[in-house]
Amino acid sequence: MSREIIAILDFGSQYGQLIARRVREQNVYSRIFPADVTANELSKLPLKGVILSGGPASVYEKNAPRCDEKIFELDVPILGICYGMQLGCQVLGAKIAPAQRREFGRTSLAIIDKNDLLANLSESITAWASHGDQIEQLGDDFNKLASTGTCPFAAVRHKKKKFYGVQFHPEVSHTPKGSQILENFLYDICGCSGDWKMSDFAGETVEAVRRQVGSATVICGLSGGVDSSVTASLVHKAIGEKLVCIFVDNGLLRKNEREQVISTFRNHFHMDLRVVDWSKQFLAELKGVTDPQQKRKIIGAEFIKAFESEADKIPNAKFLAQGTLYPDVIESGDSRDTHAPAANIKLHHNVGGLPAELGFELVEPLRDLFKDEVRLVGEYLGLPEDMVWRHPFPGPGLAVRVVGDITPERLEILRSADEILIDEIKVAGLYRKISQALAVLLPISTVGVMGDERSYENVVAIRAVETVDFMTADFSRIPYEVLGNISNRIINEVRGVNRVVYDISSKPPATIEWE
Ligand code: XMP
Repeated sequence: MSREIIAILDFGSQYGQLIARRVREQNVYSRIFPADVTANELSKLPLKGVILSGGPASVYEKNAPRCDEKIFELDVPILGICYGMQLGCQVLGAKIAPAQRREFGRTSLAIIDKNDLLANLSESITAWASHGDQIEQLGDDFNKLASTGTCPFAAVRHKKKKFYGVQFHPEVSHTPKGSQILENFLYDICGCSGDWKMSDFAGETVEAVRRQVGSATVICGLSGGVDSSVTASLVHKAIGEKLVCIFVDNGLLRKNEREQVISTFRNHFHMDLRVVDWSKQFLAELKGVTDPQQKRKIIGAEFIKAFESEADKIPNAKFLAQGTLYPDVIESGDSRDTHAPAANIKLHHNVGGLPAELGFELVEPLRDLFKDEVRLVGEYLGLPEDMVWRHPFPGPGLAVRVVGDITPERLEILRSADEILIDEIKVAGLYRKISQALAVLLPISTVGVMGDERSYENVVAIRAVETVDFMTADFSRIPYEVLGNISNRIINEVRGVNRVVYDISSKPPATIEWE
């Protein structure tokens, strides 16, 4: 357990985890609690401060979420953000009402009092706001610290209690100086020492996994991607040989992928790794199937069969470890998370996941983290650099990159092209700059000349994108010279390809994968 902790009370904000992450970035440990956690529970922790998150409700509504008001007696500083500010101010005597003009988006914050929360900032900063209510009457117990054009009390401080409120969102990147405000709160107001590191996360998570699973066996579906690899490593640290990893070879993997996973996890980390070669079954079921969604369905169903065939052989397995990340929880509208927007944005991406009916209890040690934080944990755990920084690879693998009919021969062509692409991107030093690069085999042949002969062969498309969240993306501006090398090598070295094209579409409207 960390020596100091900031408690974040969650009032249903879409930014709750982002606040936690911003606090972690300042080397302070933070944890999210339900809005109604009691002051008594919090007082048992090495609590240095509390942050009340934003939320969609209005504090004057009947069923609006509230917090235990004894929290204001705990004698630790409290920062209320948006809804959290309105709630805190209301509890301490201010009046909240609908604003005459709602404020959504970028706004300019005029700073009046730079003594503590808003220290080290200029007179005016850009801030991101998103509210329909605001403080109407502040009362005599507060100082006003800042205002915007439409919001007279955009930041406040209570005169006697250590309560601060901001009507805007310091945690989002659209408030460029937001981290300075959080730093002021954490260090100058709460007196945090900032000695928490991501490696502490690993230690604490290992302990939590141990407590959760006791002496039972845990199964982990390992794909070799960064999320499942870090999950497996954390669980392995916690329970050693009680972890059994299952790797399914679906015949749709990249070159040497299976060997790399075996070499890393079985030979290097000495994990109990079971490899299920189900490639014949996958390819048989996919024969003649060209519709992308149909491909995904088949692959999803076969994956479960393959996984179960091995899991059935493992006695006393009660738990399933999964590399679910925080954005997955939000994007897939996780049914266990009532706050998650029920969007189906990425429903098709759940291929490769396992249904709840398998009857395992889940172990999800990465559920609070963002991808780049997972990478930091992976580095700390000593995973090979190649694995930690690996681009995402979809569950259905090369099946959604061989456009149209999937045959062993076409898969082999794509595998060779993909290997060259990744190799050249690494040689050019672009691998980390690019978020995801892939080769696609198109279902058409085009005319070319090779030697003195006319050829009629396949086209490979190259796609490379830069993105933060994979929801929107732009094509990467790879230098022509590098593109030239990629094209030359693919055409010269991969039999059956006489043309290479570069995909210059952005997402949206194009997706990252071609199918
Ligand atoms: P799209 O193609 O929708 O992809 O722009 C966004 C990200 O998701 C990955 N992707 C998938 N991942 N199963 C997965 O596990 C899938 O069916 C799937 N389809 C796309 C894609 O590689 C990219 O990183």
